[in-house]
Amino acid sequence: KRIAILISGGGSNMVALVNSMIGDHPARAVLVASNDPGASGLVKAAGRGIATAAVDHRLYGRDRAAFEADLLQHIEAASPDILCLAGFMRVLTPGFVQKFEGRMLNIHPSLLPKYPGLHTHQRALDAGDAEAGCSVHEVTAVLDDGPLLGQARVPVLPGDTADSLAARVLVQEHRLYPEVLRRYAAGDRTPVCL
Ligand code: GRF
Repeated sequence: KRIAILISGGGSNMVALVNSMIGDHPARAVLVASNDPGASGLVKAAGRGIATAAVDHRLYGRDRAAFEADLLQHIEAASPDILCLAGFMRVLTPGFVQKFEGRMLNIHPSLLPKYPGLHTHQRALDAGDAEAGCSVHEVTAVLDDGPLLGQARVPVLPGDTADSLAARVLVQEHRLYPEVLRRYAAGDRTPVCL
């Protein structure tokens, strides 16, 4: 299976995914693309010999469709079977999502359906949750919704800040996403619980 990965920043989840696709793994990364030409994850991908592309969303103003059309050209040139959003911070239109329905994954730093959207760790702290975590789901037109493919849980500890909790969750993201992708690429949609 050919995997394209979309990032917006450091790409630590992309690196975890790429590092997992070795040996007899059923998938290979064929493209890493970003909405930010300055995303440091692009340098990490290039350093691993993976083709990269960047389409600067700031050049398109409010024309989301034009941005996505250009991004799509790069993606389709790589002929991916599966699209993985990994720290990708742009909302995709239903038109884009439809093109990859049933073959696009996203990782979100909360125990969905709790806390879709942003600032998930602060919201968990404010709510006094005893647990937090991350979720991998299939992408549908509704933001941070879609069938759950896996979750990993971490304890919220006394004195936690959003940053300390985010760091604890990120470690689990790097375990969860590769495990979900391995199964998903082999056609197994059984949810992973870590
Ligand atoms: C992190 O906050 C992670 O929780 C979320 O996206 C952000 C950046 O991830 N998935 P990455 O290091 O770019 O993969």
